[in-house]
Amino acid sequence: MSKVHAIITGIGGYVPQYILTNEEISTLVDTSDEWITKRIGIKERRVLKSEEGIGVTYLAEKAIENLRKRKDFDPLEIEVVVFATSTPDYILPNAASLIAYRTGMTKAFGFDVGAACSGFVFALEVGQAFITSGKYKKVMVIAGDTLSVLTDYQDRNTCPIFSDGCGVALLEATTDEEIGIIDAVLHSDGNSLEHLQMWGGGSVNPASHETVDKRMHFIRQDGKIVFKRAVTEMANCSEELMKKNQLTKEDVHWIIPHQANIRIIEAVASRMDVPIEKVMINIEKYGNSSAGTIPLCLWDWEPKLRKGDNIILTAFGAGFTWGAIYLKWGYDF
Ligand code: COA
Repeated sequence: MSKVHAIITGIGGYVPQYILTNEEISTLVDTSDEWITKRIGIKERRVLKSEEGIGVTYLAEKAIENLRKRKDFDPLEIEVVVFATSTPDYILPNAASLIAYRTGMTKAFGFDVGAACSGFVFALEVGQAFITSGKYKKVMVIAGDTLSVLTDYQDRNTCPIFSDGCGVALLEATTDEEIGIIDAVLHSDGNSLEHLQMWGGGSVNPASHETVDKRMHFIRQDGKIVFKRAVTEMANCSEELMKKNQLTKEDVHWIIPHQANIRIIEAVASRMDVPIEKVMINIEKYGNSSAGTIPLCLWDWEPKLRKGDNIILTAFGAGFTWGAIYLKWGYDF
């Protein structure tokens, strides 16, 4: 009998309406459209404007609403909700429970996964493991962030990069060996805290007047170190995964890298010797929405994907965390 494994049967996405352009960023910090376009590759990004009481779960609800227009499913049949985010609505309760309740997935249990920009890759591995266990048949994997709330719009080193957005993938059980999630490699290295982090708001530096005065509730990074590690690790782990699965670069139809900087994406493609035409890129219009970038690429590209396409997803983020997933796409649009 064939082994049960997981397949993505539908993709949804949502980005906020407000478009924050490079021109507007240039009114906030000393930068220019030309610099951001050339050095980062972003022209505009979406941010959730402070509508009262709306946070990342609003984006997730909209992404699931979008999925329901593209794929017919009964929310009551969903058994597990996994939400990858670094910007939950609240520290507690978890955001997945709120999303499940508000979207009618009331028979599911839900929890959040914290892996920063690698969130979708980590959550997909978690979601597929529930299905491969044989105990669950339908898992909703959601990944998204509102990084705008952690962004210091006085810091030109970070504010042109970050954005808000959310994507969702419905995972179901299949025994068809020709399609589905085949393999993954995941890594983390906690010896890099000082290179990419937000010092305030956690249990070491809980919110106080002092943490606010010292502007500790914003993401800080050493851009150059993050850049180099992101290129090396995404390229290496993708190649490790391909080798493990006897995949040549010619066999791969699509590489979907986390969208942090166009030069990182190009360098990964170049190190892997993969033509840029095979790489999904939408950073110019959506920026870096952290866990949201990879599902938002799948969402954008869904009409071009064909059943059986070999796809490598790869991400890198704070932690550091990084990894790659190999899947064979399951359906024609
Ligand atoms: N606008 C204009 N000039 C800027 C600038 C900006 N937004 N940011 C930096 N500069 C300046 C610097 O001050 C420096 O000037 P100097 O040479 O006079 O000192 C010059 O540009 C080069 O700075 P540098 O830090 O070397 O730029 P960079 O090419 O490395 O780009 C990042 C900076 C942050 C865009 C880049 O390092 C990066 O993308 N890193 C990865 C970040 C990331 O992916 N984070 C999320 C991880 S998931």
